[in-house]
Amino acid sequence: MKANMGLEGIVVTDTILSEVDGEAGRLVLRGLTLEQLAGHRSFEEVLDLLLAGLLEPHGRTREALGPARAAAYALLPAADPTLQALSPIEELRVLLARLPDGVDFDAAMLLIAAPAVYTAALLRRRAGMQPIAPDPSLGHAQDFLRMLRASAVPDEDAAALDQYLVTVADHGLNASTFAGRVVASTQAGLTSAVVAALSALKGPLHGGAPGPVLDMLDAIGLPGNAARWIEQELNRGERLMGFGHRIYRVRDPRADSLKAALRQLTAAAGGPGERLVLAEAVERAALEALRREKPGRRIETNVEFYTALLLEALGIPREAFTCVFAMGRVGGWIGHAREQALTGRLIRPASRYTGPQPHAEPASSANFAEALL
Ligand code: COA
Repeated sequence: MKANMGLEGIVVTDTILSEVDGEAGRLVLRGLTLEQLAGHRSFEEVLDLLLAGLLEPHGRTREALGPARAAAYALLPAADPTLQALSPIEELRVLLARLPDGVDFDAAMLLIAAPAVYTAALLRRRAGMQPIAPDPSLGHAQDFLRMLRASAVPDEDAAALDQYLVTVADHGLNASTFAGRVVASTQAGLTSAVVAALSALKGPLHGGAPGPVLDMLDAIGLPGNAARWIEQELNRGERLMGFGHRIYRVRDPRADSLKAALRQLTAAAGGPGERLVLAEAVERAALEALRREKPGRRIETNVEFYTALLLEALGIPREAFTCVFAMGRVGGWIGHAREQALTGRLIRPASRYTGPQPHAEPASSANFAEALL
């Protein structure tokens, strides 16, 4: 029997952090549903919730995260053209990898602060501008937007980004979290776990999808083009970015949370705007086509679809969307890394060997390469 290459349905750990119920479309973070948290609790409060009992002291995130942003900024290296030649998420990977490994609260705060500080700094440098130092007195979302824009941030923008960070803060044993837990199980330290997780997040099948969602909207252009464009893509065997999920067989609750945040943001700006009208038309056409072309697959809108629209509305460049995803998910990664490291157990699963059995006669050096095939 062939092994389950995607490990679908295989339970590899117990966790107190989050539960993803794919049939009910429900996400629970430490006893509270996403609906109870998003729009009601700040990112800092959700970090306190996630890290409770896993790091000491407890309940200090709000006061610690601002100074941690300042500490991360002090460690920002000088501009380096070789880094700017990378994609933003690749540059963020390098910048995070420079931080020392640690396992305590201060190490965790530095790692949670750093993606926001470094993403703002690397985007400004790419636009030919100087990075802006953090303001430790502000909330994390507000300070990120201020460092990015170099101007005061309207409360509704900060609230929308804060709701995004809460919405993506943790999500069961997704690929990046699993990668982080594997590294944490070796007792390598939090930076190593976070860099591993970020590397997994980068892929288009995980956190790399929202930029391509906007590319799709741009290619479609007008609501009336949606059905035909989508049909053509599916006929060519392409996947529609922002749809489908390994666990959710009903609508991803995070998509609803982000759509609500987007509606609030656009209402503050005077109405839904053409982009949202186009997006809703594309969503309708995509779901219709997927039901027709992939019957029984139960493919629904995922978190990335409205992530793309929300982050675009906040003026964040699409090539940096995965970095902003990391700004939120780093909280979950650290919670899981601590939970794993505290078990003291190394993750070391088994594989089944399907290569050739040892040859009776060792291959001569002349035909060694062929003997390997
Ligand atoms: N567009 C078109 N077809 C899709 C699809 C999509 N977004 N998502 C899944 N499918 C199809 C697959 O082609 C496959 O069809 P087939 O059986 O005819 O070959 C079927 O649905 C099952 O796909 P599978 O890869 O087994 O599903 P999965 O559960 O492993 O996939 C994703 C999950 C996220 C990898 C997948 O839905 C995807 O690639 N989505 C687009 C990228 C994206 O939005 N990623 C962000 C996730 S939060």
